[in-house]
Formats: sequence, structure tokens, C-alpha cells
Amino acid sequence: MIESFVGPLHRWLLFAGVVLVVGVAAWRTWIAPAATGRTDESPPDDGAKGGPGPDSMSGLERRAAGAGAVAVLLLLPVWGLRMYAQVQEFRDPFVPLSEDLAFLIREMFWGWVWVGQGVVLVGLLLVFMGIRMRPLPGATPGPRAEGNGSQSLPGLWKTVWVGTVLLVLTLSLSSHAMSVPGNRPLAVAMDASHTLAAGTWIGSLALILLLSRPIHGYAPPLAPQLRAFSPVAMVSVAVLLFMGTILAAIHLGEVAQLWNSTYGRVLSAKIALAGIVLLLGLVNWRKGLPKLSSEAGRRSVYRRAGLEVGAAALVLLVTGVLTGTSMPAGTH
Ligand code: HEM
Repeated sequence: MIESFVGPLHRWLLFAGVVLVVGVAAWRTWIAPAATGRTDESPPDDGAKGGPGPDSMSGLERRAAGAGAVAVLLLLPVWGLRMYAQVQEFRDPFVPLSEDLAFLIREMFWGWVWVGQGVVLVGLLLVFMGIRMRPLPGATPGPRAEGNGSQSLPGLWKTVWVGTVLLVLTLSLSSHAMSVPGNRPLAVAMDASHTLAAGTWIGSLALILLLSRPIHGYAPPLAPQLRAFSPVAMVSVAVLLFMGTILAAIHLGEVAQLWNSTYGRVLSAKIALAGIVLLLGLVNWRKGLPKLSSEAGRRSVYRRAGLEVGAAALVLLVTGVLTGTSMPAGTH
């Protein structure tokens, strides 16, 4: 009974946190450098004190790392909850709890992955805090120098990527992809790519919205970030849909299972919700982007992007249910 609630809930929080962490890494790698490059072509957002420039982007980079650190901090109790949910499933009332725990951690592959996930989370927290606490560069080098398209990614951010990919892999290594017969590594790689694409799209959009809230009277540049986000989102959506469709085909076996099995019905609900997220993204791209130079235009884009992220949170909730639902009999 408790598992039916804790299971989907902890997976939802886990997916949401991981998606945001991926978004932070993607933002710093592809969006921040391109947005810095575009700041010359767009005026400061209305009401901004000081325009978007090297220093503002430097400040944003530190705030992005701060958001990453908070996401990882919130993931740590979720990580603990994950073990609680697993123990509830495996609990043998006739043996002491410590014995069950030792068995889960030492004897089961799941336990190794869980321990690895904890280690990765602590490592990521330290790296994000390291970036967050670095002194701001002075007037000269600035992030324009360290962050434009021609410069390579700073070492600490490369470390963030290593941790992020490992974190995503810990999800895939305990997903349904692990029970695909034959080419299990390929299924795990596709599952991980699907999550990385989801994070690059929705996680970085959520981060842009977070970063664009005014702090100390300074309104950071929303428009250049959204313009830089647009091509990144297009590629991510293509990867997400491609990988999601193949995973769905593998897990379902046949199209009729979409309505004949519980797994298929949950997946259908997820696809319908994902369609709404895509639609909102499409409207923002076609109608919102051209209007970013006016204050009213920016406000409506911000509102629609908020809805897009909210609807994506529902997709993640359904994914939390999906990953805990048995696959149609006979598929794996
Ligand atoms: C807003 C769009 C979407 C987001 C944010 C999203 C996110 C995710 C996440 C985080 C996972 C968990 C991966 C794991 O446990 O390792 C997942 C799994 C999955 N997704 Fe998506 N997804 C989206 C759209 C789609 C679409 C459109 C499809 C199908 C065409 C799809 C099919 C799947 C399948 C089949 C799985 C594997 C579930 C399992 O292990 O049983 N997803 N998705």
C-alpha cells in the first residue's frame, strides 16, 4: 500500500531533480555561451538595471551552479527514500532489518547502483558548490572570454558533465531497459539518451525561468537565453522522441499493447501529456520568439514556458508510475 504511493513519488522527485541537473550542465555548455554571443544584438530586458554583459552572465553562471547544488541537495533525501521504497518491497518480516539492508546493498546489482548514485550525488554537490563559491572574474576576463563559443568548457563544468552522465546512467541501470533481452547495453544507452535529451530540453528551460527572476533589482537577460535555447531544444526534442519511440516499441512488443495492457495505457497517458508539452513549446517557438523584444511579448513567453515546464512535471509524474508498472507479459 505504502509502496504504491512512495514508489511513484520518489521516482518523480528523482526524475525531476536529475532533469534539472542535466539542464544546468546543458545551459552552461550550449545556452550561456550562445546567449553571451547574442547579448550585443538584443537590448537589455525592460526594467533591467544594467544590461546583459560579461558580468551579468558570470553572475548567472554562479546562480546556475547554485541551482544545481540545491537540486542535488534535494535529491539526497530522495535517494534515501529510494532505499526505503526498495526495503518495503523486499522486506522479510522474519529477519532483522539490518540483514535485509546488507543483502540489498551487497548482494544485489540494484544496491551497487544505489550506492554509486549516492557517491555521484555527493561528488556533484561538491563540484557545484566549488563553482558557486568561485570569486567572480574581474572586469577583464569575464565569462565572455571564458564562455564564448570559441572557448572550451572550463574543467569544473566538464566534471559536472561526468557526474551528470553517471547520474543518468544510475537511473537507466535500474530501469526496464535492464530487462531487455539481447542487446541490454544498447537499451540502457537509449534510455540514458532519452533522459539526457529530456533534461537538456525541459531542465534547461526550467533553469532559464529560474535564472530570469529579478534578484536585488537586477533582471537578467531572458531574451538572449531563450533565443540560444531554441536550437538546443529542437535537437533535444528530436533525440527524445526518437529514443522514446524505440524504447516504447521495445517495451510494448506490439502497438495493440498501448491500450490492452496497463503499461501501455500509462504510456499512452504519458505520450498524450508529452504532446501538450510539445504543443506549448511549438507555440512559444513560432509565436513567442519573434515578440521577445517587447515587455508584453517576454511576459507571455515566460508564462507559456512556465506552463510547458509544469506540464513536463506531470509527464515526469506519469513516468514515475510507468517505470514502476510491469511490462506487458511476454515482451521481455
Ligand atoms: C516531455 C517529454 C518527456 C519527458 C520529460 C520524458 C522523460 C523520461 C524519463 C525521465 C524517463 C526515465 C528514464 C529512466 O528511468 O531511466 C523516461 C522513460 C521513458 N520514456 Fe520518456 N519522456 C518524455 C516523452 C516521451 C515520449 C514522447 C515517449 C514515447 C514516444 C517516451 C517513452 C518513454 C519510455 C518507453 C520510457 C521507459 C520507461 C520504462 O523504463 O519502463 N517518453 N522518460
